[in-house]
Amino acid sequence: MNIAFQKEALQNKGVAQIRLTEEKDSAVFVFSNGQKEIRVGIGKKQEFTARKLHLLPRKIIVIAKANKVKKFVIRFEDFEKLTRLNNGELAELLAKNFGLANFEFVEYKTKPEEGWRFVEEVIVSGNVSAAVKKGADTGLCMAEEINACRRLANTPGGEMTPSVLAKAAMNAAKGTDIQVTIFGKTEIKKLKMGGILGVAEGSREEPKFVVMEYKGKAEKPIVLVGKGVTFDTGGLSLKPEQYMNEMHMDMSGGAAAIHAIALVAKLKINKHIVALIPAVENMPSGSSYRPGDILRTMSGKTIEVLNTDAEGRIILADALTYAKKFEPCLVIDIATLTGAAMGALGQRASAIFTKEMALAKQMSEAGERAGDYVWQLPLWDEYAEEIQGTFGDIINTGKTRYGGAITAAMFLYEFAKELKCPWVHIDMAPRMTSIEGDYLAKGATGAPVGLLVEFLKSFA
Ligand code: BES
Ligand code: MN
Ligand code: ZN
Repeated sequence: MNIAFQKEALQNKGVAQIRLTEEKDSAVFVFSNGQKEIRVGIGKKQEFTARKLHLLPRKIIVIAKANKVKKFVIRFEDFEKLTRLNNGELAELLAKNFGLANFEFVEYKTKPEEGWRFVEEVIVSGNVSAAVKKGADTGLCMAEEINACRRLANTPGGEMTPSVLAKAAMNAAKGTDIQVTIFGKTEIKKLKMGGILGVAEGSREEPKFVVMEYKGKAEKPIVLVGKGVTFDTGGLSLKPEQYMNEMHMDMSGGAAAIHAIALVAKLKINKHIVALIPAVENMPSGSSYRPGDILRTMSGKTIEVLNTDAEGRIILADALTYAKKFEPCLVIDIATLTGAAMGALGQRASAIFTKEMALAKQMSEAGERAGDYVWQLPLWDEYAEEIQGTFGDIINTGKTRYGGAITAAMFLYEFAKELKCPWVHIDMAPRMTSIEGDYLAKGATGAPVGLLVEFLKSFA
């Protein structure tokens, strides 16, 4: 998709005009000269909110596509009236969300005869400043990177193996100043990452450990750790079929870490960022790790495996320990970790956990700015009782079926606390796939790439 600028909104029947109205519903008009007008209902202006603004450009694209409109023109001033953002920020928000809504995962579909319904060009009319043009460029760049993340997550598990995910990381770093190192099984063994090795045992696919580093500034780095389970069957604690459905997306946290660091590099944000992605496939087989097995992690702590389906936290444990090597000033992990996080929040916000209330606040605010929302859940010491091991140091599930997102976070905290630096855990399971109200194509949402970049930009 391309964004063009024009002083006047020229009448042209090939180009639909977008009008914002205070109606609830939207409507498409075709005049006798062939000119199309799309009236997009935004509801009462005084009831319009910053949250609705993120959805408006997506809604416009969805309506345009449904009406086979390839090109449309918007009046920038119509949007200015709806927000307190400056014009550069507004242009970025519009371009980003146009781009996100225009994406569909069509790689495995036969192209229809009349072609795909993608919007090809958005024309912005009005006397716009250089800041608007720059904002639009940035927004499109963001959309492209977030969409690349969605493409990775949507790729079927048979094709998205740990090796392929590692190659995707190299690919994402192309043309940037990011250094990529990939460890195979031999190096993972040398590092004594018994958690990663244990989970990977049941699969024919070799585990990989991806290290990406972008040194936009000489300072202690922020380390991102992304869960890269390329398919999660549950292992010997096999998932029932209705729960295994979308488990090719269980590497969404890894994909988000890869594309967040790539986006930081492309936008030349002056930060030192590291991304670590432990990548495995969780399979049942004669060589699988078993319930009752005790794994020795890189940290020296042992994990008593009660359920092989709680695999994400096991591989993240080793990655969190490895992060220590970088003497980070902050560590953020991103994982499709628990169904319980969805039980708690529904599908409209990722759950965040941290001991630092100031960080939780900064992250929530970044989420509001990015339209990529989070909500904090507790990380209280009391919950640690629920993961005390009998024969190993800690167990990989809670002792009851309650508060599963919290016990998972507490498990990670056992390793994160050794970092001696602030840490935030993002359980993005709620945001793994889109829902109707997102105005995004079915499949991966690309969350929380937008949130991370917005947060990293402002983190001092
Ligand atoms: N990858 C799943 C969590 C998940 C579920 C993500 C649904 C996205 C959508 C994770 O590995 C898992 O299986 N978690 C278990 C933990 C349980 C066995 C303690 C869960 O949430 O049921
Ligand atoms: Mn699992
Ligand atoms: Zn999983």
